[in-house]
Amino acid sequence: MDHPLPISGQTPADHALNDPIARIAVHVGDITALPETFGVDAIANAANESLAGGGGVDRAIHDAAGRDELIAYNREQYPAGCPTGLVKHSPALGLEAQGIKHILHAVGPVWPEDDAQYAMPGAPIDDTAKLGYTYADTLLASCYTQLFNLAVKYDIQHLAIPAISTGVYRFPKPRAARIAFGHAHGHLLRNDLPQRITFVCFNEED
Ligand code: APR
Repeated sequence: MDHPLPISGQTPADHALNDPIARIAVHVGDITALPETFGVDAIANAANESLAGGGGVDRAIHDAAGRDELIAYNREQYPAGCPTGLVKHSPALGLEAQGIKHILHAVGPVWPEDDAQYAMPGAPIDDTAKLGYTYADTLLASCYTQLFNLAVKYDIQHLAIPAISTGVYRFPKPRAARIAFGHAHGHLLRNDLPQRITFVCFNEED
């Protein structure tokens, strides 16, 4: 089956050049200290609903951007914080020195303690709930979809993303990786922006 040409008028050769796989990379390192040669102009944060900072990558990004200024910006712009599954935009503040213009604060789901939370709201709580997309999967997928749509909105060329929800929030890493990659591939098949996505893993396990 011919690969559907995602952008009208593209030749197969152009399509091969724009092939989503070639536009996705993985980097092991600190998302607040990426090589400038990457040309990253936006980074995603694994935030919590308060948008008031915390630990892990959230802390690293707040420290690098300027904690007080970033907290003040988000409190002013988003007094109600950000619900799980959604993403809020802020300027990069202190990270602008590295060529970064945007921070996209994504609030991923906490992996549920018990099966009761696996099921989609209102769905029967039985083992079929785990067979498909659980509610937590759906919320994580929503974070990625929002990140990519905001990349289009803010004309972001190269977006770096940490392993959202896979640290303190205990989302299984392989499961999160499939959701992240699948949604990135699907988005890039149909969109020119972001031109590139780099998944930044803090360590080999990530
Ligand atoms: N650069 C890149 N990745 C990092 C960095 C960093 N500097 N620091 C941590 N990570 C990785 C972790 O190894 C993990 O794989 O980010 C991933 C997400 O882990 P957490 O930061 O714990 O985020 P999450 O699981 O989404 O939990 C969010 O934790 O820190 C708090 O305020 C945050 O309440 C929120 C919750």
